Amino acid sequence: MSAQQPHAIYLEDYQPPAWRVERTALRFELEEEQALVRAQLSISINPEAGSRQALELLGDDEIELQRLSIDGEVLCASDYARADGRLVIPNVPDSFTLECVTRLLPQQNTALEGLYKSDGMFCTQCEAEGFRRITFFPDRPDVMSVFTTTLVADKTRYPVLLSNGNPVASGDADGGRHWVTWEDPWPKPSYLFALVAGDLALVEDHYTTASGREVALRIYAERKDLDKLDHAMVSLKNAMRWDEQVYGREYDLDIYMIVAVDFFNMGAMENKGLNIFNTSCVLAHPQTTTDAAFQRVEAVVAHEYFHNWSGNRVTCRDWFQLSLKEGFTVFRDAEFSADMNSRTVKRIEDVTLLRTAQFAEDAGPMAHPVRPESYIEISNFYTLTVYEKGAEVVRMLHTLLGPELFRKGSDLYFERHDGQAVTTDDFVRAMEDVSGRDLSQFRRWYSQAGTPRLNVSDQYDAETGCYELHVSQSCPPSPGQEHKLPYHLPLAMGLLADDGTELCSRVLELTEEEQVFRFEGIPSRPVPSLLRGFSAPVKLDYAYTDQQLLMLLRHDTDGFNRWDAGQRLSVRLLQQQTEAWCRGEPMQCEQALVDAWRGLLRDENLDPAMVAQLLRLPSEAQLSELADEIDVIAIHEAREFMRTALARALESEWLAVYQRCDAASGTYSPDAASIGLRSLKNLALEYLIATGREPWLELARQQFEQSDNMTDQQAALSLVVHSGFREVGAELLEAFYLQWQHESLVMNQWLAIQASDSAPGALERVVSLSRHPMFDMRNPNKLRALIGGFCGQNLVQFHAEDGSGYTWLADWILKLDRQNPQVAARLLTPLTRWKRYEPVRRALMRDQLQRMMDTAELSADVYEVVSKSLV
Ligand code: ARG
Ligand code: ZN
Repeated sequence: MSAQQPHAIYLEDYQPPAWRVERTALRFELEEEQALVRAQLSISINPEAGSRQALELLGDDEIELQRLSIDGEVLCASDYARADGRLVIPNVPDSFTLECVTRLLPQQNTALEGLYKSDGMFCTQCEAEGFRRITFFPDRPDVMSVFTTTLVADKTRYPVLLSNGNPVASGDADGGRHWVTWEDPWPKPSYLFALVAGDLALVEDHYTTASGREVALRIYAERKDLDKLDHAMVSLKNAMRWDEQVYGREYDLDIYMIVAVDFFNMGAMENKGLNIFNTSCVLAHPQTTTDAAFQRVEAVVAHEYFHNWSGNRVTCRDWFQLSLKEGFTVFRDAEFSADMNSRTVKRIEDVTLLRTAQFAEDAGPMAHPVRPESYIEISNFYTLTVYEKGAEVVRMLHTLLGPELFRKGSDLYFERHDGQAVTTDDFVRAMEDVSGRDLSQFRRWYSQAGTPRLNVSDQYDAETGCYELHVSQSCPPSPGQEHKLPYHLPLAMGLLADDGTELCSRVLELTEEEQVFRFEGIPSRPVPSLLRGFSAPVKLDYAYTDQQLLMLLRHDTDGFNRWDAGQRLSVRLLQQQTEAWCRGEPMQCEQALVDAWRGLLRDENLDPAMVAQLLRLPSEAQLSELADEIDVIAIHEAREFMRTALARALESEWLAVYQRCDAASGTYSPDAASIGLRSLKNLALEYLIATGREPWLELARQQFEQSDNMTDQQAALSLVVHSGFREVGAELLEAFYLQWQHESLVMNQWLAIQASDSAPGALERVVSLSRHPMFDMRNPNKLRALIGGFCGQNLVQFHAEDGSGYTWLADWILKLDRQNPQVAARLLTPLTRWKRYEPVRRALMRDQLQRMMDTAELSADVYEVVSKSLV
């Protein structure tokens, strides 16, 4: 809580640190009521700073400062000033040792930032600004220090004591306590510090690096979860190998540790040598974990591992540069997942997320550039823009330079900046230096917010065989940025003849507001396949006919664009039905679409994973993003209509596909081919259930009861619960609960499935679930399952016309803000989009934002989101 109005921090105000901390020695006395922290910092003046300044350390107002000394001399209260999260000591020598003892209450830390307890174990989360909740420190990423950490705790309760680096000494202490000292040889910023103390079980393995170094791999979890760590271990080893092969990067310590904790604000954290993971991103077992979660574990384990180079060895100068490590690392993990699984499917999933959620962020009140210019609370900027759009920006560099030059650029970047805290500009400069290209215009991707729009039209001259593409680009205004300059971007494309033969394929480079590209020797009017592989994060308009889209859906050589052609067609047809519904006219399902889908369903040579993507209708959230003014009910009705129509028109095909996939799946394995079979099978089951016919309910019930894996069981459960078969739905929910009540992560799914059930009475159901013993408001995963599930996945009910969903969410935010501001601010997102809705809902949503604004003592996190949303 901040007593005064929270204030903004600006990129343009950046100053290098006045002081350096060469060494940091920490000693933690962990107890049941408190933790005592003694920090010894070797501090000296930074020769690179402009002028000499008083020593200023950051430290949360809530921590108790017990003792402060300089070179052994204890300071008294008049020697320093403490206010607004700062400790200022005016008179210090040029070089000295500062010792500081603080007392913390980790047991009462519900914000899950700094040192806190998750179930019975102590753990930390320091990124971005959590270290200042532990001790006083120049808690900023450009101050890098060598850390030595000693942990002292009760030996029976906390037999495992971990921190960064390598263990160098240990022993017993009085009163049944013991201690371990860890040394991390690599200088690091405070945000990468971590400790864990608990009664943990582990799986152990080892890895030999390309240069022959042995690394011990240890993954820790609560004993009950010991059987769920194998997949993470395999993923880790694959990631280590991949980073050597693709980026030439080796691991640099003797031990690599991952710890699973159940209370965690985000997905996972790349602390040097000691990653801390949300259980949801590391635990995996066929019986309790879905395919999607298996793949997420693989991706997040790799992501955090890749940070060891893109994040830890080379880190960020300041938090405005967050995308330097996150955008690059997301690009790296996406390429890794693409190599491990199906490349096209991975691309489709990532683009779907970008188009649904990042585009919506770009169009909302919190829109910001990949490198933001200012923030009030940095936690609010761990966003889809910084992560996913940031990764797209790196991908464009990869496309523009080509794989070889890109690799050279990345080698140069790592070599040039190893051990430094740098900027996104430094990253681009390395790419410029290896390629000899001028990327100054490209840098606008880092500084301008908003989703650019490409408008494409064409002209064909049959006599000369000349074909022209006219491309114009623009970008809508975003907060603080009225006018945008044109972007430099790669437009990958091809030209197809009517019969589907490819006539040419190229990467065009756009730099101007308007450009014409000419193609000679084209025998007949071609169909353009544009923005192949989604080569730039833009919205592209071209007046395709339905026939052209159907042709691309059948013949495009670019798998991504085949899918995209199908999506464009579905979106168009769904938008027509939405309009029909609004006018009170009957809705229709286009016969050409039914025929195309029938062709796809009958073709046994196609990759099942790909067919599953092709036959999935765009989500309500995505249709909302595309709407001029969102009419939640119309979108829902139109989509339900189409889904039912396609279900009934192709009923026998769905059944055949279901049976074919079912017969082809053997015992469970989370490999790409088996995942593809299950995703198509469960999509077929979705359509069968959507017919509303009883036999398919029985089929789903059977699958629920007999499957040997969570993917199939959960698919059956959620399909039945979300169908009109209410009684059976309730029955299966009860059975599922009895079967899995001891598995916290499975129960989160159980909460989420109910929260996203759009049948009438939804609010009453979530209210009653919020009182269920399986819910725990202190656990972010449970909040995301129930509150996030209702407000983000149950659009018709959250947007109930009486505003009850909005009030419910605002009530929760106000309650959660006192407990965990980071999570509160994140759950608030759906309300921030109020301007996109029709007048009645718009006003109701705004009222709730205003009500929050009028509340005294909002956290900086929630204050920033609410105040910016009301502008
Ligand atoms: N650096 C972490 C990752 O990319 C995210 C941690 C951010 N946590 C936070 N509380 N802001 O995986
Ligand atoms: Zn990351």
